[in-house]
Amino acid sequence: MTQDTHPARKILVTSALPYANGPIHLGHLVEYIQTDIWVRFQKMRGHACYYVCADDAHGTPIMLRARQEGIEPEQLIEKTHAEHAADFADFNIRFDNYYTTHSDENKDIACTIYNRLKADGHIDVRTVRQAYDPEAEMFLPDRFVKGTCPKCGAEDQYGDNCEACGTTYSPTDLINPKSAVSGATPVEKDSEQFFFKLGDFQGFLEKWLDAGHTQTEIANKQKEWFEEGLQDWDISRNAPYWGFEIPDAPGKYFYVWMDAPMGYMASFKNLCDRTGLDFDEFWGQDSKAQVVHFIGKDIARFHTLFWPAVLHGAGFRTPSSVFCHGFLTVDGQKMSKSRGTFIMARTYLDHLQPEYLRYYYAAKLSSGVDDIDLNLEDFQQRVNSDLVGKVVNIASRCAGFIMKKFDGKLSSQLPSPSLQQELVAAGEAIAEHFEHREYSRAVREIMALADRANQYIDEQKPWAKIKEEGKEQEVHDTCTQGINMFRVLVIYLKPILPELAQKSEDFLNCGELSWQQLDQPLLDHAISKFKPLMTRVEKESIDKIIEATKQHMATQAKAAVTGPLVDEPIAAEIEFDDFAKIDLRIARIVKAEHVEKANKLLQLTLDLGGETRNVFAGIKSAYEPKDLEGKLTVMVANLKPRKMKFGMSEGMVLAAGPGGKDLWILNPDDGAQPGMKVK
Ligand code: MSP
Ligand code: ZN
Repeated sequence: MTQDTHPARKILVTSALPYANGPIHLGHLVEYIQTDIWVRFQKMRGHACYYVCADDAHGTPIMLRARQEGIEPEQLIEKTHAEHAADFADFNIRFDNYYTTHSDENKDIACTIYNRLKADGHIDVRTVRQAYDPEAEMFLPDRFVKGTCPKCGAEDQYGDNCEACGTTYSPTDLINPKSAVSGATPVEKDSEQFFFKLGDFQGFLEKWLDAGHTQTEIANKQKEWFEEGLQDWDISRNAPYWGFEIPDAPGKYFYVWMDAPMGYMASFKNLCDRTGLDFDEFWGQDSKAQVVHFIGKDIARFHTLFWPAVLHGAGFRTPSSVFCHGFLTVDGQKMSKSRGTFIMARTYLDHLQPEYLRYYYAAKLSSGVDDIDLNLEDFQQRVNSDLVGKVVNIASRCAGFIMKKFDGKLSSQLPSPSLQQELVAAGEAIAEHFEHREYSRAVREIMALADRANQYIDEQKPWAKIKEEGKEQEVHDTCTQGINMFRVLVIYLKPILPELAQKSEDFLNCGELSWQQLDQPLLDHAISKFKPLMTRVEKESIDKIIEATKQHMATQAKAAVTGPLVDEPIAAEIEFDDFAKIDLRIARIVKAEHVEKANKLLQLTLDLGGETRNVFAGIKSAYEPKDLEGKLTVMVANLKPRKMKFGMSEGMVLAAGPGGKDLWILNPDDGAQPGMKVK
């Protein structure tokens, strides 16, 4: 009954391939921990499960990042690969292969798929007009053009849509557009591009989405695209581009999102070549194996429209499942650089054990696409009370007696087989929860069992009985039961906490714990000396992580500001009189509010020492309104009032930094008073 009755399944599992231009952060880890738990569970249940991943190593941002650092893209992706691999390993994410999309295997696969699609008429060639940087001599992705919104006049907007008013447009519609690469004004230029005719697969995709391969919510969302008809997908980019050149099309490269998912196949191919696994058994058209992708909801469209269509069109099998998860928030808010909650994997590892986070995420994760919140206080409490206070406590309460009084040997019987059976019988329900990615439910059940076990020991009071005459056997049996209940709990927790499981296996002296041994208690069995299996999370460590994150972000921002990409040249010289015209004043922010439908702006009410001003400031990305209230800042007090979409703006507050989350409102203290002139 505790055996998995199905025959062993063959399962290939992937997590999304992280971009090779940045470090792994706690947001990413939601996904890799979620996947790793599922994979470890499947392996523990005896299935042939393979977990592959890779760095997503191509694309413009990586090319420019390398340029900025003065190295070749190859060097950049190699360096990042090593960092990513180390971060994952230290979080006990156990890939069977961690590869890169910049590989021979991937190039082969990309070319094969492209050639097959082309041969079957699924590729179109069309002339496209795009923004071109005449100075850097390159076509610019929309995100690399910035300028003023033609609709509402908001400054510093990306070339695809305005964050202030939501209008979408093309980069060249911007007023005063500038290339983020060189600062030059982009021009429009025609070039030929290759399109994947997604519309050819509309019928296929409709069926695929209805067949339960992904969550209903996600499927419905994708189906909205059908209403206006599926648009062809531009899969090519012009040189200079960092990626694979398209066969028979010199100077044209595959768009990064074309070869990225193929990286799943390439990583697996590389594993097959090293280990003798059969690639076609997993990817061939009539494969009986499962192919399971774990991804974040932000990249669902690539995985549930383009990817199945591309695979189908090229004669490969399509994914069995695309499991989407939500985004991480920290203390209820988007990860924030200024608040120090944009935490890198490495920063966390410098101060805390990986298993705490694995446990906390598991306790929060379900099969849905809701965002999950890392509440730092709750994190500390939950780990301490559940893992240290409940689970490990069972072992530590019993181990001492076994060691000291019974020669380190368990007794030959369980005093309450029915209680033991209760724990074992919960195994199938818990397994179901793991299988369906309802980890929070699994954790809840496991902790309820831990409560039962502790309650039992409380009732038996071995610490009191050991002092009574003739109760030795009873104490021996109670502690034996305690250790065996602990063992069952560790089996259940093993996919989540491999390190705790490993240490427990050493302590129990029992070899590798597996799901199949649930109902084979350890009796008449020598255990090893108990060493603390897990220590408490201290508030101090969390504080250190936040502090280190803030510092890390400050250095990053500084590096970014001095880097050529966002380097803002000093503006042309001005006369003293020009400067003197600007009336800078100290203002107190008496009220700060969100502006409905505005993505960048906050509405500020400023006290100028007797006069009140209404100002819209583009600092929403960096500040929570309530954090600003009461602060002093510097403002331009004589700026002509400007009518904006949301109302009149009567002045401008001064802030520093490259933008986004790295934006610091100037914040004088030391006795400045509202209304004071800044000289
Ligand atoms: N390179 C693409 C994926 C290509 S897959 C063929 C990419 N990379 S990413 O580094 O931006 O993200 C990798 C994965 O981490 C994605 O599934 C993404 O959804 C997930 N997450 C990144 N930030 C996240 C949070 N803050 N919270 C939860 N998951 C997040 O997208
Ligand atoms: Zn706008």
